[in-house]
Amino acid sequence: MDLQLKGKKALIFGSTGGIGLSIAKSLISEGADVYINGRTEDKCARICDEIKAKGFYAGDLTEKGIAKEITELFIKDNGALDILVTNTGGPKKGNFLDVDTEQWNTDFQSLWLSVVDSLHAALPQMEKQNFGRVLLVTSLAAKEPLPGLTTSNGLRAGLAGLVRSISNEYASKGITLNLILPGYTNTERLQALNLSEEKIKELVPAGRLGEPEELADLATFLASPRAAYITAQSIAIDGGVLRGH
Ligand SMILES: NC(=O)c1ccc[n+]([C@@H]2O[C@H](COP(=O)([O-])OP(=O)(O)OC[C@H]3O[C@@H](n4cnc5c(N)ncnc54)[C@H](OP(=O)(O)O)[C@@H]3O)[C@@H](O)[C@H]2O)c1
Repeated sequence: MDLQLKGKKALIFGSTGGIGLSIAKSLISEGADVYINGRTEDKCARICDEIKAKGFYAGDLTEKGIAKEITELFIKDNGALDILVTNTGGPKKGNFLDVDTEQWNTDFQSLWLSVVDSLHAALPQMEKQNFGRVLLVTSLAAKEPLPGLTTSNGLRAGLAGLVRSISNEYASKGITLNLILPGYTNTERLQALNLSEEKIKELVPAGRLGEPEELADLATFLASPRAAYITAQSIAIDGGVLRGH
């Protein structure tokens, strides 16, 4: 299938490692012009070189306004923005009473406001083009709370509602917005949790972790012109963890 991604301009936040990096590589392999993001210039430059991305915009998404600044700069530099992928590092763990207001503010900024900020800049441009693909990488926590991930459980469920609302406004303008909900996926973040094989089998009906490349395959299709009739969806890629949602 020709995904018609050649020359499409893509900005992928949180893409020097893990899931974001796999999405970047996959879009590059389909001929898209991909720009990556991470917190530091050095790592962005190294990964950009390694995967042959078109460029990078370094910036920390826990900082107020940075996602809007980067998205505006991307549009100024490229004159177009076809594909926007929002993604960032996962939040700290903590049960409800362990999470203070400062932590809520930090996580609200990085998981929620960075998405709103980049959309404020991206949607008017996509509307002018009569084309746009927006993908939000969130978590299965959006549908089923994960133990100890209080801010993720709360904020990500809300983001799904927000995207359904925005999709309604933009569905007739060639712009789709969808959420990808990773399950237990084999990245550095998950490796740090040191889950035993037995634990993984207990948690995941498929009996194994997901590979970031599997998630990237889905993202690449959703980012393509071929996926024009799919919008406002929260799609889990989780080996069967979510059932009945
Ligand atoms: N892996 C899983 O099993 C899983 C499951 C459910 C949900 N998720 C969610 O999916 C997202 C990606 O997870 P992952 O496993 O791919 O994580 P990861 O391996 O830790 O990669 C995170 C990426 O985001 C970048 N990043 C981190 N903090 C950032 C910040 N403040 N500003 C800009 N970029 C930042 C990192 O780059 P730098 O280090 O260069 O800044 C890196 O490229 C997370 O939000 C996570 O909660 C993951």
